[in-house]
Amino acid sequence: MLETFVMPAGPKSVVYATLARHAEALVEGVNDKIANAANLSAMLYHMLPDISWSGFYFLKHKRLIVGPFQGKPACVTVAVGQGVCGQAATMRKSLIVGDVASFPGHIYCDPAARSEIVIPLVKGDKLLGVLDLDAPVTERFDEDDRRGLEQIAAIWLRSFKR
Ligand code: SME
Repeated sequence: MLETFVMPAGPKSVVYATLARHAEALVEGVNDKIANAANLSAMLYHMLPDISWSGFYFLKHKRLIVGPFQGKPACVTVAVGQGVCGQAATMRKSLIVGDVASFPGHIYCDPAARSEIVIPLVKGDKLLGVLDLDAPVTERFDEDDRRGLEQIAAIWLRSFKR
């Protein structure tokens, strides 16, 4: 399925527009948040360059618990308010960290991670979790990535009823 997807060369805005179309195709007719999170994390991991980890954390009993992802095994639990994931969840705001070594409280799941972006997942007024991507290089993510990944997150949020 994914191998039939062809990525265009070009600016990130074009790449993310194509990824958004692929994402819509992947979730079409699938009213299941876990299945869609699994396929979207795989799509992001395999189709974006320089990604070492891509996945979802879901809010359960006031903690973030790892969900579907691609990459090395990760920390199972991140407390809300801690790490990049927990802070993005608390603020309900996307966070871009250019150099994780200089982010106070960054949680090293993978010592090879150098930069990170976290997108909060909010449906209606309910925080469901976060979408998290790590990179093996510093300064991997910028505002184009934030916009593009927020769009992918929105596609996931619309893909299921509850
Ligand atoms: N680095 C994250 C923890 C999750 S892993 O990157 C998969 C953080 O600081 O919240």
